[in-house]
Amino acid sequence: MSRFAVIGMPVKHSKSPAIHTQFAQQFNMPMDYEAIAVEQDDLAHFVHGFFAAGGKGLNVTLPHKEDAFSLCEAVSVRAAQAKATNTLYLDQNGNLSGDNTDGLGLVADIEGNHGFEIAQKRVLVLGAGGAVRGVLGPLIERRPSRLVVANRTRAKAERLQGDFAELMNFDVADYDQLNSAFDLVINGTSMSVSGRLPPLPVEVLAPGACCYDMMYADSDTPFVGWGKLHGAHLALDGLGMLVEQAAESFAIWHGKRPGTDAVLAQLGAQRSLG
Ligand code: ATR
Repeated sequence: MSRFAVIGMPVKHSKSPAIHTQFAQQFNMPMDYEAIAVEQDDLAHFVHGFFAAGGKGLNVTLPHKEDAFSLCEAVSVRAAQAKATNTLYLDQNGNLSGDNTDGLGLVADIEGNHGFEIAQKRVLVLGAGGAVRGVLGPLIERRPSRLVVANRTRAKAERLQGDFAELMNFDVADYDQLNSAFDLVINGTSMSVSGRLPPLPVEVLAPGACCYDMMYADSDTPFVGWGKLHGAHLALDGLGMLVEQAAESFAIWHGKRPGTDAVLAQLGAQRSLG
């Protein structure tokens, strides 16, 4: 049976095995997909060993996305922009290849699942770490009319600005400089993990705005709660992004993109049951 896995640390609560197993069932495809905890020091050894033993594909999650990128012999344009990979496989020549489907997943969720078109919209991205770097390319490809990246550490946002300058000249800002309105505000900071929010003025929300938290949780993240409180038209967390990035990874491995509606409905229902 074809062998796949998601590797990370911690990874025990990953939803990826359930998601990929459901995708495979859509095509009556036998597939073995596990979640495997891998220590940073053991990453290279594990990845090479997995493929040498006939493994077909790996998803990579925190904290290994950047290190997995460094291991690859070939990477997609998107992974090169992101300097991180979440999808590994061997190409026809047996080279370890990496892609990054996080940005496609984000865009597919916002546009495909929620009907919010990014083209010509004013977009504010909060944070300038690996999570943001991973999605900027596909976000810019949707042609927002304006893009601002705000971060606590300005130098990190400026580094991203330089790295993506060929794709778009976007602005960077400190949180306390934000004084204009945006149609889409994406939280890519890791602050939801500790139950906190970037210090945002409510004026950043234009009428009809969408708030999107790249993190997800069983109840509203602080950023989703903030969006709802301040009248955002849509206030979404990253569960849909997780499912959509998985569908893109599945398509890379199997050459067929699964439907995501049933998986999204099931995960949403599980969540509402608490
Ligand atoms: P990831 O790979 O999840 O993006 P990261 O590279 O460590 O992780 O980036 C975390 C992001 O959350 C950064 O934008 C970070 O801001 P800094 O660049 O200033 O560190 C942001 N972040 C984390 N904790 C924060 C806090 N308490 N206040 C403001 N921003 C925070």
